Amino acid sequence: MTDNTRRDFLKQAALGTAAFVAYPTSPVLGANDRIRVGMIGVGNRGQELLKQAISVPNSQLVAIADVYTRRRDEAKKMAPGIQTFDDHRRLLDMKDLDAVIVASPLHTHARHFLDTLAAGKDLYSEKTMTWSIAEADQCLAAVKSSDRVVQIGLQWESAGALADARKWIKDGIVGRVTQVNSWMSRNTPHGKGQWVRPVPSDCTAQNVNWTAFLNGRPDRPFDPYRLINWRLFWEFAGGNVAENGVHQFA
Ligand SMILES: NC(=O)c1ccc[n+]([C@@H]2O[C@H](COP(=O)([O-])OP(=O)(O)OC[C@H]3O[C@@H](n4cnc5c(N)ncnc54)[C@H](O)[C@@H]3O)[C@@H](O)[C@H]2O)c1
Repeated sequence: MTDNTRRDFLKQAALGTAAFVAYPTSPVLGANDRIRVGMIGVGNRGQELLKQAISVPNSQLVAIADVYTRRRDEAKKMAPGIQTFDDHRRLLDMKDLDAVIVASPLHTHARHFLDTLAAGKDLYSEKTMTWSIAEADQCLAAVKSSDRVVQIGLQWESAGALADARKWIKDGIVGRVTQVNSWMSRNTPHGKGQWVRPVPSDCTAQNVNWTAFLNGRPDRPFDPYRLINWRLFWEFAGGNVAENGVHQFA
């Protein structure tokens, strides 16, 4: 596997535009040309990425890790034949895995980032990169002392609009940019919070590796609401992050 092949794979995964094709999809390539991919966290976003991972011709999804049985079962339905684990470390133990896609809750990103690099795998991780700035510094240091390919996914960053804007600026079509305004607008109906998800009835202590989810946060009895709605709690998320504001350039 060459660096270019790896980069192409990560680029394709980031595009978010690949069509769904049933598994297995890869055209016949030499075994060595296939990138063997694993995933950590196959919930809402992870399953979108999973569809893309199995549609990229030169890659093969071979394993996923998720703390919740329901998500592992869903992933297996989408990609029969994959191995499944409830602990990401077992996935990273796989010697023949080349790259890992991380779509786990924010408070676990740094651990999954650092463990993936330590295991010698390339990494594509969902935003936000880490829960805290200290964790981001740790991850940056790990990247600097590694030769692995690392990419943080932000919605649509690799898709056409931003690529066009970049080209227009580079080619001088836009001229000198002095100010950029950006914002995110969301309407929330009265009494209905953003991102509140229903808790499935099978979300029980028996079906979840709760310790792995807590990832060092203070221990407590199993709480399905927090597992499903981690976004609503500061200890697991950082609030919705959007690039809002006005950026002025001299
Ligand atoms: N949902 C979206 O539209 C969206 C879009 C872009 C990016 N993202 C990003 O994707 C990431 C995941 O978001 P989501 O909406 O898919 O969340 P989710 O809760 O739907 O999925 C997270 C998955 O990770 C699993 N998980 C929890 N702890 C784990 C651990 N320690 N090890 C392995 N698996 C674990 C959960 O069981 C769940 O299946 C976040 O970083 C989010 O910002 C989400």
